[in-house]
Amino acid sequence: MATYTADAFVVRDRFPLARDEEPVTTRVRRDEACAVHVTDARGHLLQHLAAQIGDAATVAFIVDERVETLYGAELLRFARDCGSEVVACTVPSGEASKSLARAATLLDQLAASELARRDLVVCFGGGVVADLGGWVASSYMRGIPYVNVPTTLLAMVDGALGGKLAVNHATAKNLIGGFRQPAAVLADVTYLRSLDRRHIAAGLAECIKKGVIASPAYFGFIEDHVDRLLAGDARATTVLVRSAAAIKTALIERDPYELDLRRPLNFGHTVGHPVETVMGYGTLLHGEAVAFGMVVEAAIAVQRGWLAPGLFERLVSLLATCGLPTRSADLPAALDVVALRRAMHKVRLIRAGSLRWVLPVALGESVIADDVTDAEVAAALAARGVQ
Ligand SMILES: NC(=O)c1ccc[n+]([C@@H]2O[C@H](COP(=O)([O-])OP(=O)(O)OC[C@H]3O[C@@H](n4cnc5c(N)ncnc54)[C@H](O)[C@@H]3O)[C@@H](O)[C@H]2O)c1
Ligand SMILES: [Zn+2]
Repeated sequence: MATYTADAFVVRDRFPLARDEEPVTTRVRRDEACAVHVTDARGHLLQHLAAQIGDAATVAFIVDERVETLYGAELLRFARDCGSEVVACTVPSGEASKSLARAATLLDQLAASELARRDLVVCFGGGVVADLGGWVASSYMRGIPYVNVPTTLLAMVDGALGGKLAVNHATAKNLIGGFRQPAAVLADVTYLRSLDRRHIAAGLAECIKKGVIASPAYFGFIEDHVDRLLAGDARATTVLVRSAAAIKTALIERDPYELDLRRPLNFGHTVGHPVETVMGYGTLLHGEAVAFGMVVEAAIAVQRGWLAPGLFERLVSLLATCGLPTRSADLPAALDVVALRRAMHKVRLIRAGSLRWVLPVALGESVIADDVTDAEVAAALAARGVQ
């Protein structure tokens, strides 16, 4: 028997010969945990960031240009003070950065740095940086840990959570991507002080959606505190963001890889996405398109006698209070119904022939149907002034 050096690690296996009549099957499972910390104190954010950095030799920041100007210096200096080498990769603000070309530039920057498997990527910005930076981190060296530090309300309550990553392709939004959970999401609501009211309202639309599909308590909280939320009250916003994280996380855990397309989180998106496409990206914010989509989809539920008109009016009134579009007149331009129908048919083709509709029937309860007719959609649109 040979003797080994003291720190040698012995690996011993005794596999039998494979029997040729049996298929060889691999079954693997990835166990990912993501902690979401929501705070209104920068000190807490930094504490959690330090814990995530740990003894990483290098930390790469993938940071939105505007966010870097506003808040970059503090976070980068902090990471350096933690003893890490810091690499700052700046991404121009806006949806155009969610591209393969931008991902390739970032990968070049990471490859030129010392960043290695046990290091950390921090995605610092809105939903664009979370989608793009997370995907880059998940493909660099086949995946290195990343942390999201979201700075828009939409990213705090939606985009930075759930591990869905993507860049856009000329033919479709979010066409190229994957699934990988961040190691943590660190949300400091004081970053929202510099965000304009329109973007706050767009984030609120995704919160209201969660209230309708999954939580009467959450819907009621938003109704009761809408003025404070729109004014950026830190306490109310902290509750808003933490609860959104709890609701989205619970729903994602049921189906993290979206194997089942009957997802209540798609409420407002069956109409909202095509509206976004038809109006042109950037004309309407995503949350605004979803708000209008929720109204049309809820109207279909009312037409079917499934949703009480009183509840429908509560939804419309809450969205309107936020300044979100609920009628044709609120949209920045006339909505072309023919183009909208065409865009919806295209989605139907992509989805193998059926469009899924999330029709709310009560707060926290919805029916997922694929038999909504063009006539029903046209009637719901007409009721909102779209002819
Ligand atoms: N992966 C998901 O599950 C998921 C869910 C929802 C949305 N998304 C994606 O998120 C993106 C939209 O996210 P978004 O609305 O955050 O957009 P965004 O990242 O483009 O940010 C919006 C704007 O706000 C600016 N900004 C960011 N933080 C700021 C701050 N604190 N103060 C002032 N300005 C600030 C940015 O520079 C940008 O101009 C879309 O690409 C969408 O597809 C992804
Ligand atoms: Zn959405």
